[in-house]
Amino acid sequence: VTNGAIASDVWEVMSTCRAIRRFRADPVPTEILHRCLEAATWAASGGNQQPWKFVVISGPEARAAMAVGARKALESIEVVYKMTRPAADDDSPRARNNRAVYALHDQGRDVPAAVLFCVRDLPSTPELLAGGSVYPSMQNFMLAARAQGLGAVATGWQTAGEPEIRAAMGIPDEYHLMGLVIVGWPEGHFGPLRRKPIEQCTVVDHWDRPLVREG
Ligand SMILES: Cc1cc2nc3c(=O)[nH]c(=O)nc-3n(C[C@H](O)[C@H](O)[C@H](O)COP(=O)(O)O)c2cc1C
Repeated sequence: VTNGAIASDVWEVMSTCRAIRRFRADPVPTEILHRCLEAATWAASGGNQQPWKFVVISGPEARAAMAVGARKALESIEVVYKMTRPAADDDSPRARNNRAVYALHDQGRDVPAAVLFCVRDLPSTPELLAGGSVYPSMQNFMLAARAQGLGAVATGWQTAGEPEIRAAMGIPDEYHLMGLVIVGWPEGHFGPLRRKPIEQCTVVDHWDRPLVREG
Protein backbone atom coordinates (compact mmCIF):
# COMPACT_ATOMS: atom_id res chain seq x y z
CA VAL A 1 0.00 0.00 0.00
CA THR A 2 1.30 3.43 -0.89
CA ASN A 3 0.15 7.02 -1.16
CA GLY A 4 -1.86 7.22 2.03
CA ALA A 5 -4.40 4.48 1.24
CA ILE A 6 -5.16 2.22 4.19
CA ALA A 7 -4.18 -1.45 4.06
CA SER A 8 -6.83 -3.68 5.54
CA ASP A 9 -4.57 -6.70 5.85
CA VAL A 10 -2.93 -6.54 9.26
CA TRP A 11 -0.75 -9.54 8.42
CA GLU A 12 0.73 -7.83 5.42
CA VAL A 13 1.34 -4.73 7.52
CA MET A 14 2.98 -6.53 10.46
CA SER A 15 5.13 -8.81 8.34
CA THR A 16 6.55 -5.97 6.24
CA CYS A 17 6.97 -3.35 8.97
CA ARG A 18 10.72 -3.01 8.63
CA ALA A 19 13.00 -0.31 9.90
CA ILE A 20 13.10 2.31 7.13
CA ARG A 21 16.00 4.78 7.25
CA ARG A 22 15.99 6.42 3.82
CA PHE A 23 13.20 8.79 2.91
CA ARG A 24 12.02 10.81 -0.04
CA ALA A 25 11.97 14.54 0.54
CA ASP A 26 8.15 14.79 0.29
CA PRO A 27 6.54 15.97 3.53
CA VAL A 28 4.23 13.75 5.56
CA PRO A 29 0.70 15.20 5.30
CA THR A 30 -0.71 16.25 8.66
CA GLU A 31 -3.85 14.13 8.40
CA ILE A 32 -1.78 11.00 7.74
CA LEU A 33 0.42 11.71 10.76
CA HIS A 34 -2.68 12.36 12.87
CA ARG A 35 -4.07 8.98 11.85
CA CYS A 36 -0.87 7.35 13.14
CA LEU A 37 -1.23 9.26 16.41
CA GLU A 38 -4.84 8.19 16.74
CA ALA A 39 -3.81 4.55 16.22
CA ALA A 40 -1.22 5.09 18.96
CA THR A 41 -4.00 6.06 21.36
CA TRP A 42 -5.81 2.78 20.65
CA ALA A 43 -3.07 0.90 22.50
CA ALA A 44 -3.50 -0.72 25.88
CA SER A 45 -2.03 0.76 29.05
CA GLY A 46 -2.10 -0.27 32.70
CA GLY A 47 -5.51 0.59 34.17
CA ASN A 48 -6.27 2.39 30.91
CA GLN A 49 -4.46 5.38 32.38
CA GLN A 50 -3.05 6.29 28.98
CA PRO A 51 -0.04 7.92 30.65
CA TRP A 52 1.60 8.68 27.31
CA LYS A 53 2.38 11.99 25.71
CA PHE A 54 3.46 12.28 22.10
CA VAL A 55 5.63 15.20 21.01
CA VAL A 56 5.45 15.94 17.27
CA ILE A 57 8.85 17.34 16.36
CA SER A 58 8.47 19.95 13.67
CA GLY A 59 9.93 23.39 14.53
CA PRO A 60 13.60 24.40 14.31
CA GLU A 61 14.44 24.31 18.05
CA ALA A 62 12.88 20.91 18.57
CA ARG A 63 14.58 19.58 15.44
CA ALA A 64 17.96 20.98 16.53
CA ALA A 65 17.65 19.17 19.87
CA MET A 66 16.67 15.96 18.08
CA ALA A 67 19.76 16.30 15.87
CA VAL A 68 21.97 16.40 18.97
CA GLY A 69 20.37 13.11 19.98
CA ALA A 70 21.02 11.68 16.52
CA ARG A 71 24.69 12.65 16.62
CA LYS A 72 25.29 11.28 20.10
CA ALA A 73 23.30 8.11 19.38
CA LEU A 74 25.45 7.45 16.32
CA GLU A 75 28.60 7.81 18.43
CA SER A 76 27.42 5.10 20.80
CA ILE A 77 26.06 2.87 17.99
CA GLU A 78 29.52 2.99 16.37
CA VAL A 79 31.10 1.77 19.59
CA VAL A 80 28.47 -0.83 20.56
CA TYR A 81 28.16 -2.37 17.07
CA LYS A 82 31.79 -1.69 16.04
CA MET A 83 30.43 0.17 13.05
CA THR A 84 32.40 2.39 10.70
CA ARG A 85 31.44 4.21 7.51
CA PRO A 86 31.57 1.59 4.75
CA ALA A 87 33.87 2.00 1.77
CA ALA A 88 32.10 3.32 -1.34
CA ASP A 89 32.66 0.08 -3.27
CA ASP A 90 31.52 -2.25 -0.46
CA ASP A 91 28.17 -3.73 -1.49
CA SER A 92 27.87 -6.40 1.21
CA PRO A 93 24.55 -6.56 3.11
CA ARG A 94 26.28 -5.27 6.24
CA ALA A 95 27.76 -2.32 4.37
CA ARG A 96 24.38 -1.50 2.86
CA ASN A 97 22.70 -1.64 6.26
CA ASN A 98 25.40 0.48 7.88
CA ARG A 99 25.18 2.99 5.04
CA ALA A 100 21.45 3.37 5.76
CA VAL A 101 22.16 3.83 9.48
CA TYR A 102 24.64 6.62 8.66
CA ALA A 103 22.22 8.16 6.15
CA LEU A 104 19.50 8.33 8.81
CA HIS A 105 21.69 9.78 11.55
CA ASP A 106 23.40 12.22 9.19
CA GLN A 107 19.98 13.63 8.27
CA GLY A 108 19.40 14.53 11.90
CA ARG A 109 17.18 17.59 11.96
CA ASP A 110 16.16 17.15 8.31
CA VAL A 111 14.25 13.87 8.69
CA PRO A 112 10.74 14.22 7.22
CA ALA A 113 8.81 13.81 10.48
CA ALA A 114 9.42 12.58 14.00
CA VAL A 115 7.46 11.85 17.14
CA LEU A 116 8.85 11.49 20.65
CA PHE A 117 7.03 9.04 22.92
CA CYS A 118 6.95 9.92 26.62
CA VAL A 119 5.30 8.27 29.60
CA ARG A 120 4.28 9.85 32.91
CA ASP A 121 6.16 8.56 35.91
CA LEU A 122 3.83 6.63 38.21
CA PRO A 123 5.47 6.35 41.65
CA SER A 124 3.97 2.90 42.22
CA THR A 125 5.15 1.56 38.85
CA PRO A 126 8.70 0.37 38.12
CA GLU A 127 10.11 2.00 34.99
CA LEU A 128 10.14 -1.22 32.97
CA LEU A 129 6.47 -1.74 33.67
CA ALA A 130 5.77 1.88 32.72
CA GLY A 131 7.35 1.03 29.37
CA GLY A 132 4.52 -1.44 28.90
CA SER A 133 2.13 1.49 28.99
CA VAL A 134 3.77 3.34 26.13
CA TYR A 135 5.56 0.89 23.81
CA PRO A 136 2.30 -0.65 22.56
CA SER A 137 1.28 2.84 21.44
CA MET A 138 4.61 3.28 19.67
CA GLN A 139 4.16 -0.02 17.85
CA ASN A 140 0.60 0.95 16.87
CA PHE A 141 1.98 4.20 15.53
CA MET A 142 4.56 2.39 13.43
CA LEU A 143 2.03 -0.14 12.12
CA ALA A 144 -0.37 2.67 11.21
CA ALA A 145 2.48 4.39 9.39
CA ARG A 146 3.25 1.19 7.47
CA ALA A 147 -0.44 0.67 6.68
CA GLN A 148 -0.45 4.05 4.96
CA GLY A 149 2.74 3.41 3.03
CA LEU A 150 5.00 5.45 5.31
CA GLY A 151 8.28 4.03 6.52
CA ALA A 152 9.37 4.37 10.14
CA VAL A 153 12.25 3.55 12.43
CA ALA A 154 12.43 3.55 16.20
CA THR A 155 15.53 5.23 17.58
CA GLY A 156 17.24 5.81 20.87
CA TRP A 157 17.89 9.46 20.08
CA GLN A 158 15.73 10.55 23.03
CA THR A 159 18.17 8.98 25.47
CA ALA A 160 21.33 10.17 23.75
CA GLY A 161 20.06 13.75 23.58
CA GLU A 162 17.90 13.78 26.70
CA PRO A 163 19.08 17.05 28.32
CA GLU A 164 18.86 19.01 25.06
CA ILE A 165 15.50 17.46 24.14
CA ARG A 166 14.00 18.09 27.59
CA ALA A 167 15.12 21.72 27.53
CA ALA A 168 14.05 22.48 23.94
CA MET A 169 10.68 20.75 24.21
CA GLY A 170 9.88 21.76 27.78
CA ILE A 171 9.32 18.20 28.98
CA PRO A 172 8.44 18.06 32.67
CA ASP A 173 10.55 15.94 35.03
CA GLU A 174 7.68 13.54 35.75
CA TYR A 175 7.75 12.30 32.16
CA HIS A 176 10.23 9.66 30.93
CA LEU A 177 11.53 9.89 27.36
CA MET A 178 10.87 6.45 25.94
CA GLY A 179 11.31 6.39 22.16
CA LEU A 180 11.77 8.66 19.17
CA VAL A 181 10.26 7.45 15.91
CA ILE A 182 11.24 8.84 12.53
CA VAL A 183 8.70 8.62 9.70
CA GLY A 184 8.60 9.50 6.04
CA TRP A 185 7.89 8.20 2.57
CA PRO A 186 10.36 5.39 1.98
CA GLU A 187 13.05 5.59 -0.65
CA GLY A 188 13.01 2.04 -1.96
CA HIS A 189 11.22 -1.07 -0.73
CA PHE A 190 10.20 -2.47 2.64
CA GLY A 191 11.79 -5.86 1.95
CA PRO A 192 11.20 -9.03 3.97
CA LEU A 193 11.75 -9.21 7.72
CA ARG A 194 14.63 -11.32 9.00
CA ARG A 195 13.55 -12.81 12.30
CA LYS A 196 14.29 -15.90 14.34
CA PRO A 197 11.76 -18.71 13.99
CA ILE A 198 9.41 -19.12 16.96
CA GLU A 199 11.22 -22.32 18.05
CA GLN A 200 14.25 -20.21 18.94
CA CYS A 201 12.40 -17.79 21.16
CA THR A 202 9.62 -19.86 22.71
CA VAL A 203 9.54 -22.47 25.46
CA VAL A 204 6.59 -24.47 26.74
CA ASP A 205 6.00 -24.64 30.50
CA HIS A 206 9.69 -24.70 31.37
CA TRP A 207 12.77 -22.81 30.26
CA ASP A 208 14.41 -26.11 29.23
CA ARG A 209 11.57 -27.17 26.91
CA PRO A 210 11.75 -25.42 23.56
CA LEU A 211 8.66 -25.26 21.41
CA VAL A 212 8.60 -27.99 18.80
CA ARG A 213 6.41 -27.67 15.73
CA GLU A 214 5.17 -30.81 14.03
CA GLY A 215 5.69 -31.17 10.30
C1 LIG B 1 14.44 0.46 21.15
C2 LIG B 1 14.99 0.60 19.75
C3 LIG B 1 15.98 1.53 19.48
C4 LIG B 1 16.50 1.68 18.20
N1 LIG B 1 17.44 2.65 17.96
C5 LIG B 1 17.89 2.84 16.71
C6 LIG B 1 18.79 3.90 16.42
O1 LIG B 1 19.15 4.69 17.29
N2 LIG B 1 19.22 4.05 15.15
C7 LIG B 1 18.82 3.21 14.15
O2 LIG B 1 19.24 3.40 13.00
N3 LIG B 1 17.95 2.20 14.37
C8 LIG B 1 17.46 2.01 15.63
N4 LIG B 1 16.54 1.01 15.87
C9 LIG B 1 16.05 0.17 14.76
C10 LIG B 1 16.56 -1.26 14.85
O3 LIG B 1 17.91 -1.31 14.52
C11 LIG B 1 15.71 -2.11 13.89
O4 LIG B 1 14.37 -2.07 14.30
C12 LIG B 1 16.19 -3.54 13.83
O5 LIG B 1 17.51 -3.62 13.39
C13 LIG B 1 15.30 -4.40 12.93
O6 LIG B 1 15.41 -3.95 11.62
P1 LIG B 1 14.46 -4.51 10.45
O7 LIG B 1 13.07 -4.21 10.88
O8 LIG B 1 14.85 -3.76 9.22
O9 LIG B 1 14.70 -5.97 10.35
C14 LIG B 1 16.02 0.87 17.15
C15 LIG B 1 14.99 -0.06 17.41
C16 LIG B 1 14.48 -0.19 18.67
C17 LIG B 1 13.35 -1.18 18.92
